[in-house]
Amino acid sequence: MNSVAVVLLVWTLASPSSGGHTSREAWPTHLACSGGGLEVLYQSCDPLQDFGLSIDQCSKQIQPNLNIRFGIILREDIRKLFLDIALISRGSSVLNYSYPICEEDLPKFSFCGRRKGEQIYYAGPVNNLGLDVPQGKYEILLELYNENRATVACANATVICS
Ligand SMILES: *[C@@H]1O[C@H](CO)[C@@H](O)[C@H](O)[C@H]1NC(C)=O
Ligand SMILES: *[C@@H]1O[C@H](CO)[C@@H](O)[C@H](O)[C@H]1NC(C)=O
Repeated sequence: MNSVAVVLLVWTLASPSSGGHTSREAWPTHLACSGGGLEVLYQSCDPLQDFGLSIDQCSKQIQPNLNIRFGIILREDIRKLFLDIALISRGSSVLNYSYPICEEDLPKFSFCGRRKGEQIYYAGPVNNLGLDVPQGKYEILLELYNENRATVACANATVICS
């Protein structure tokens, strides 16, 4: 990650897309990665903030050790952090998955335990099982939440595999 990209990411996180109106437009759609027959677009579904995400190796053969970059300003403390993933294909629910990211006795990442108001930036691997994405278009809903079930980040993504 070079410093220009870090500056851009921080700038993106810190710039509201509109001037604090109560009914505002949705957050812009971002491209997390494109290439290798796969395209991943996402949009924050947290009305209060946007966040930055990019996936380093884009391929429909998802590697077990995938490098990502993720940046967000924390709205909540994250002593514990969980990720819920829901996969939807052609309007029907295909898969629900829940994954612990930070647990008190088992912090998997350096940012575990950070406090509300702090900015976290993670660049590194996320372990997964690896998978060949079947051709198609998928919708994915992602939600990060803490020990009090308070939303830390939320996104809806579209994955297009050709
Ligand atoms: C996110 O959801 C909104 C509302 O359903 C939809 O209009 C938008 O296209 C979705 N964005 C992505 C990147 O999937
Ligand atoms: C996933 O969760 C949603 C909401 O709780 C539920 O409606 C859906 O049936 C679940 N899908 C699967 C495949 O279990």
